[in-house]
Amino acid sequence: MTATPASADPRQACAGELAEHGPSWLARAFLAVDRTRFVPGRVWLPEPGSDGLFPVLDREQDPDAWQAAVYELRRPLITQMDDHRTPSEGPARGRFTSSISALRVVAAQLAHLDLHPGHTVLHIGTGTGYDSALMAERTRAHKILTIETDRQLAGTARRNLDASGYGQVRAAVGDGELGWPEGAPYDRVLSTASATRVPPAWIAQTVPGGIIVTPYRGLALLRLAVADDGKSASGPVVDAVAFMALRGRRGGEAPDIRAVIKAQLADAEKSRTDADLSPVRSELGAEFLLHALVPGIRIVFGGTTWWFEARDAASWAAWKPDGRVRQWGPRRLVDEAVLAVAAWRDAGAPALTDLGVTVGAGGECVWAHGPGGPAWPVRDA
Ligand SMILES: C[S@@+](CC[C@H](N)C(=O)[O-])C[C@H]1O[C@@H](n2cnc3c(N)ncnc32)[C@H](O)[C@@H]1O
Repeated sequence: MTATPASADPRQACAGELAEHGPSWLARAFLAVDRTRFVPGRVWLPEPGSDGLFPVLDREQDPDAWQAAVYELRRPLITQMDDHRTPSEGPARGRFTSSISALRVVAAQLAHLDLHPGHTVLHIGTGTGYDSALMAERTRAHKILTIETDRQLAGTARRNLDASGYGQVRAAVGDGELGWPEGAPYDRVLSTASATRVPPAWIAQTVPGGIIVTPYRGLALLRLAVADDGKSASGPVVDAVAFMALRGRRGGEAPDIRAVIKAQLADAEKSRTDADLSPVRSELGAEFLLHALVPGIRIVFGGTTWWFEARDAASWAAWKPDGRVRQWGPRRLVDEAVLAVAAWRDAGAPALTDLGVTVGAGGECVWAHGPGGPAWPVRDA
């Protein structure tokens, strides 16, 4: 093998890395599908600059930096902010509402999907259309159906796919949580937006033995196998991934309740706890279980105080490592977090990938150390 300097051809270098990190076919598909056709000419980088704004990369103004970013393994590129309300004309602050996923994440998702030639695939969260094109390269069966909720993004993806020779991929505008019944049954379902619950339609539209890969609760990648009854599915968390939520599950703009907390601070109920909540920050398994068992919780880690907020902003709590607690509103969020962390400890402090999910007639539950291990019903976010 002759070594090529990594800088000589970023696309080849990237293919080399994907051959190490992804399924064996991915590097070939990556070389066949030109990623530069799918990345918009202007994208935001996902890390803010010192001014707090997300910088823009412009293909025309800085083609080398733009191209280097396109072939970076670990960084997604933000393609839409605030549902189009923020123009990509310059650095901005806003909520990420679409991106082209990082190649490392694409590789992990496709590895776990175990895709084979001839498979029929339902893809939720088309975005730029890039994942669909890669999957079309692999399946060669012309049965990739992809759904995007945002009409404008779906239109761009359609054009990207057509211009790249993937006109056979079927693309629709709609709510991917409902699946695409007309194309069912599917051998594989891939979601590239995060679910808070596994939508029943995905299970119903997948063949028994089929596989569903989806980000879950914003931090875990789930791989579920559909059971022989075709109505239930179960499987482990296979990786840690950060993904934006499915629209409809985003819960609206997160209200900034800092001012509310300030006004209520003196009146909040004071107490103490001996419980150590620190695993919520240091252990992904504990963080995952907390988000599965405490509905709608948001945590802001301050220097000396951790703030727990309910998504509806009606309840909040503050916890300090020395045990001081303040709680306000109808819910006692620190008490709920203490129970979730205790459940995690009692289960033997499972790592993220020791956890998994089963969905069936009895609802949805999270388990540790296999479906026969300790299990807890998932609460709605
Ligand atoms: C992280 S982006 C996926 C990008 C795609 N993997 C790519 O690399 O181009 C998530 C996409 O899911 C879409 N989405 C969110 N909720 C959806 C839903 N309920 N149905 C279909 N698409 C949805 C968003 O609009 C967004 O474009």
